[in-house]
Amino acid sequence: MVLTSILSLVGTVLGTALDVACAVPVVGPLLKPLKFIFGAADDQSVTSLFTFLWNYRNFDFEHFMKSHKAALAVGQKTGDYCTGVCNYYEVMSEVITLTSGPFWHFVPMAEGVSRKESHDQFHCTMVNHLDAKPGQKILEFGCGFGEIGRQVAKISGASVTGLTMSNAEIVGGNERIHKAGLQDRCVIVQGNYHKMPFPDASFDKVFGVYCLKYSADLETAISEAARVLKPGGRLVSYEIIVTDKYDPTNKTHKYYVDNISHSTCMPPLWHAHNFRDAARKAGLVPHSEVDLCKPPAQPWYSCFERTYIHDVLSSPLVLNAVKLAETVRILPKSFFEFFEACIIHPTTDFTNAGRLGIVDGALMMVWTKP
Ligand SMILES: C[S@@+](CC[C@H](N)C(=O)[O-])C[C@H]1O[C@@H](n2cnc3c(N)ncnc32)[C@H](O)[C@@H]1O
Repeated sequence: MVLTSILSLVGTVLGTALDVACAVPVVGPLLKPLKFIFGAADDQSVTSLFTFLWNYRNFDFEHFMKSHKAALAVGQKTGDYCTGVCNYYEVMSEVITLTSGPFWHFVPMAEGVSRKESHDQFHCTMVNHLDAKPGQKILEFGCGFGEIGRQVAKISGASVTGLTMSNAEIVGGNERIHKAGLQDRCVIVQGNYHKMPFPDASFDKVFGVYCLKYSADLETAISEAARVLKPGGRLVSYEIIVTDKYDPTNKTHKYYVDNISHSTCMPPLWHAHNFRDAARKAGLVPHSEVDLCKPPAQPWYSCFERTYIHDVLSSPLVLNAVKLAETVRILPKSFFEFFEACIIHPTTDFTNAGRLGIVDGALMMVWTKP
């Protein structure tokens, strides 16, 4: 606990000192790479990986990996990934927070703009796409710790209910709501977005970010979102999807895309046309569709490139060092398997698939309910 606080304090102090140093003419630009190595988790620095290693030095990775693989096999056989999602987020909600801060999705980034500032901007973009107004009732399904919902509530004055299945996320999310003093307008409740625990026409607006990728039954999930929406309301979805360039018969394409799903216990990724079809069947009307990461924005996966995290995690040196550290028991049993499956894979596969243009992580789709 003490060392975690020290590591996070060191990250914040170094990050702030480097912010100042980077603003100095001539030397500043040369120091920029250091900022991405020593910054805080909000900026997804390499240092945050060390905080995670320290915190999880006694964790039972063997048990986690066994249950993760068993739940994935059940999901692939039955199309029901719920047990796998809960198992994954009971552990990964904290791991993602330690390594990436409160931001669990990709957003457009620009040169000279920090990751936190980019997410602040994304929250305003979300408010605009929702057309969120004071007094409205908004649902965020698949909300994680509910960062987006809290920001939407703060910016717009609306009330936001978060929905997720994972106990860890409900407890952690509601703690964060109280800490932000938003308990009068925000709450996180338990439920599966395929069978939402709300009456018909309960919300003025409904949105989900990076969560429908966990659904093997998109039509049911979107028809539920449409059901709980009031007539005249909007559904906003922002997801990771495969693009027209994805060719499942291409071994490299399939390797990256399958690994993205397997590492986080998900079914195969959907294409945008699956969302369009499901929304049409649910009686929704297309309102707008925009790729937020079209140039001049940097690619959606650029957070992993600008911080060198993709390079670090692609390095055989790092892989072998972790393997050795587990062999001599500096790191716990099965840590290497976890690190490769749940940290290296998603990070490098997102970047490699993004570079090939076969996966897109920045499509904002909006529908209205007549
Ligand atoms: C990648 S996280 C995204 C969290 C949040 N939307 C964000 O972008 O910061 C995916 C979230 O979807 C939730 N989820 C997955 N399947 C779900 C389901 N069937 N019902 C409700 N929540 C689900 C997970 O528990 C997790 O909170």
